[in-house]
Amino acid sequence: MAAPTNPAPTQKRSGGGSETDALEDADPPAAWEPQPGPQSAFVASTLFEVIYGGARGGGKTDAALGEFARHAEAHGKAAKGLLVRRTRVALVPTIERAREIYGAMGATWQEQKSRFVWPNGAMLYVRYLDRDQDADAYQGHDYTRVYVEELTQFASPRPIDKLKATLRSAAGAPCAFRATCNPGGPGHAWVKARYIDAGPYNIIEENGLSRVFIPARLSDNPRLSEADPLYVERLRQSGSAELVRAWLEGDWNVIEGSFFDKWSGRNVVRPFAVPELWTRVRSLDWGYAAPFSVGWWAVASDDTTADSDVGPLVIPRGALVRYREWYGSTGRPNQGLRLEAEAVANGIVERERGEKIHNAVADPAIFSTQGGPSIGERLRVAGVWFRPADNTRVGKAGALSGWDQMRARIAGQGKGPMLFVFDTCRDFIRTVPVLQHDPDRPEDLDTTAEDHVADEARYACLSRPLTAGPPVVPSNPRDLWGRAAKPPVNWKVA
Ligand SMILES: Nc1ncnc2c1ncn2[C@@H]1O[C@H](COP(=O)(O)OP(=O)(O)OP(=O)(O)O)[C@@H](O)[C@H]1O
Ligand SMILES: [Mg+2]
Repeated sequence: MAAPTNPAPTQKRSGGGSETDALEDADPPAAWEPQPGPQSAFVASTLFEVIYGGARGGGKTDAALGEFARHAEAHGKAAKGLLVRRTRVALVPTIERAREIYGAMGATWQEQKSRFVWPNGAMLYVRYLDRDQDADAYQGHDYTRVYVEELTQFASPRPIDKLKATLRSAAGAPCAFRATCNPGGPGHAWVKARYIDAGPYNIIEENGLSRVFIPARLSDNPRLSEADPLYVERLRQSGSAELVRAWLEGDWNVIEGSFFDKWSGRNVVRPFAVPELWTRVRSLDWGYAAPFSVGWWAVASDDTTADSDVGPLVIPRGALVRYREWYGSTGRPNQGLRLEAEAVANGIVERERGEKIHNAVADPAIFSTQGGPSIGERLRVAGVWFRPADNTRVGKAGALSGWDQMRARIAGQGKGPMLFVFDTCRDFIRTVPVLQHDPDRPEDLDTTAEDHVADEARYACLSRPLTAGPPVVPSNPRDLWGRAAKPPVNWKVA
């Protein structure tokens, strides 16, 4: 069965209307070779899924095209590939580059069928997948290679999983899924959780299938900087400072358009022994059917240096450091453990054995009674006390409160952020940075997402308020009011 055809993208033609364009006018052929480092690792991998992602211009598309060149050469007519991208326009440069690489091998581009055909019978279909449902058209097909370009442009993994189901070979050729992507984009969160968070080159086995993430950095592609020295400069002009940093460094902790848009790899530190002297705060967002979240925070009593993925970081005096967490979920999205208050209290006592907690704040709702003792009281009887947190979400004009406090801490000023999390706090890192604005009330966050850790972190931030300077502009108003977000200019620790 032939792959569904998209209207062929427009591109340079050497004349005539014939379907087969034999690429006669290509430069003298030179076989494609991977560059040393990640590109070579990508091409050599025999794992089922390899995701090559990170910096823009890192050589990812070239690696994907080159990988099929080798597969086509090795497996001849058993080699059948499908390369998809989200948009048709974006396909054009990919096809042009493929024509250079494959032309050198004697492959021809058949525009109407939108495929490359090799003299040995190998084929690569090139398609765009405009809507998620378009993936349904591939049901029942079989391919030995599926390449998805710009994986993070797919908001949901569903179409991708459908494409993966087409990977099978009656001729016994090895089947594999390969994808390339940059941080940011509507699919950032699921791609990061499924592939990136396991860490680079760390092979994950699930149901007999293996997957791995290969990070791309611009420095791995010296060919680009040689050929186009101004590339980085142009990149800098094409996005916000955060997004450009994500593109240049391949930093997956930076997300454009999120509620906490200043969140980055600079907020995540490697665990260290928290000095005894530091004040400790515990915060709780209660949940039963939904997850509960407990955070343990230490307040830096002096400037301290900590290790991180992005190098050594200064933790300024007064900064909050989340050094432990307990997220009460079954592991299914937004599904709680259904633990009674006493069981949660026991879990907390166990986790903080030998530790002195100086302050503890929880959602005020746990102190309301509906007949019997409140959750707050049951926790206290079981040995864990809390006081009601300030649960202001959105500050009044001029006041730095609610989410503004948390955003100001994440953004930081001068010496750097005023909120850090240990990299062991997986549920904070998984849920908080991807939270979005409430579309109807942009100054608040979209509460339909998994926001329990964020709520509890907000209580902790409000228990150690930063004093406000001038009125705060809510973060990320760019797209709503066309203004740039800035933390207040002269806040300091209370
Ligand atoms: N092995 C190689 N041989 C020759 N040229 C290469 C090689 N690898 C990369 N390049 C060149 O470097 C440039 C950038 O590479 P490529 O388009 O693959 O990057 P990318 O990571 O896909 O970028 P983006 O994130 O923008 O999609 C291209 O012009 C490409 O042809
Ligand atoms: Mg690319």
